[in-house]
Amino acid sequence: MSDPRLAELSRRLPELRLLTAPAELEHYGRDWTRRWTPAPLAIALPTGAQEVQAIVRWANEQRVAIVPSGGRTGLSGGAVAANGELVLSLERMNRVLAFDAVDRTLTVQPGVILQHVHEAAREHGLVYPVDFAARGSCSIGGNIATNAGGIRVVRYGNTREWIAGLKVVAGNGELLDLNRGLVKNSSGYDFRQLLVGSEGTLGIVVEATLRLTEPPPPSQVMLLALPDMDALMQVFALFRARLVALQAFEFFTDVALRHVLAHGAQRAIDGDHPYYVVAEFDAADERQQEAALAAFEQGVTEGWISDGVIAQSEAQAAALWRLREGITESLAPRRPYKNDVSVRISAVPAFLHEMQALLAREYPRAEVVWFGHIGDGNLHINVLRPDELAEEAFIAQCEHVTALLAATLQRHGGSISAEHGIGLVKRAYLESTRSAAEIALMRGVRQVFDPNGVLNPGKLFAPD
Ligand code: MLT
Ligand code: ZN
Repeated sequence: MSDPRLAELSRRLPELRLLTAPAELEHYGRDWTRRWTPAPLAIALPTGAQEVQAIVRWANEQRVAIVPSGGRTGLSGGAVAANGELVLSLERMNRVLAFDAVDRTLTVQPGVILQHVHEAAREHGLVYPVDFAARGSCSIGGNIATNAGGIRVVRYGNTREWIAGLKVVAGNGELLDLNRGLVKNSSGYDFRQLLVGSEGTLGIVVEATLRLTEPPPPSQVMLLALPDMDALMQVFALFRARLVALQAFEFFTDVALRHVLAHGAQRAIDGDHPYYVVAEFDAADERQQEAALAAFEQGVTEGWISDGVIAQSEAQAAALWRLREGITESLAPRRPYKNDVSVRISAVPAFLHEMQALLAREYPRAEVVWFGHIGDGNLHINVLRPDELAEEAFIAQCEHVTALLAATLQRHGGSISAEHGIGLVKRAYLESTRSAAEIALMRGVRQVFDPNGVLNPGKLFAPD
């Protein structure tokens, strides 16, 4: 190790795997944003909490910044290392540690891939219900760091609802054991929940105890075609009222459909329709299935639904889901500029109208693809760079529009980041969602947990 700081780290932790080859620095130094050039100092791959603690203490002494790193599927630059940071990859801490049948909890290391969490829960006849398209590559530690949401929030809530306990190495090097799986714990500040969504700026999760639940009853998946934007929330209200329980209610536009079909998905409804919804709902018996059909028919009679199809098999259900879940992947080669916004569900109709007018006005040439978790008031806006526009000019234009969007969100009481996190991408717009007083307190909290600012500096807010 020619860098003396790394030599010191190796001296303290001779067993620690450290990577410095250019290809490894590039691989571990970026996330799915692909906007920054990776330039980390090195990659450390610890195997346990003590090693993580020793690395954080070393970083404090040497004043080296650490970027905690999971599956790096993030969309806001939270795991980008572009300034000589040490990437602390948790991928070797990937074991399921314990299952407790009485508590109904699963204790895992942070590098466990979400899909493996799902499988481990299922082995015990239970489910971990947070789910989204990146399940095969994102890690549970990253999910916790961003309070990941996904496709079943309408039924199960966000990641934070499912965290019973966390072991965390704080920025000051202390190992904290937070909440210890307790269901009830009214003993002061809940640091466990403070850590959820803190984007690696307060501490590094080294162990998580996850709550599990009963598997949902058998479900059905429906694809609906809708004639206009207003119909979206009408159908949502109708389905929520008439169906026994919605598990998911996701929407996308005809533009999104075009991309996903070009990427290999199968068309399921003929004709041109501006909006589509994939809904999944409990359908355990005939009564529930009839209720769904009746809701569908009412939607058709009201003029809110133009066409629809119900999956008749698991394969068909998967094919319908692919139309929604395949969107991000189908757009990825174009490296879209992403917004991920939310408003209260009741504010969605008014916000959608304003937002649509804004996007049409501000992006006369760019293709704008919107879709998302409309049942949670969460909308994803992916903007594709027109060929004639250089990357830099395109980003500048998108940032200008994002500032306008942030102002619109502020008027509607919404958030500039629903589920992807602030990271680097949305840092400049944090003030649209959080007050100056809140941000001052957030900075103060960070100062307490991480006095030397070694954990993920520059993410969430600009360094002091
Ligand atoms: C999704 O829900 O598919 C992603 O969170 C959205 C995105 O890629 O912008
Ligand atoms: Zn999403």
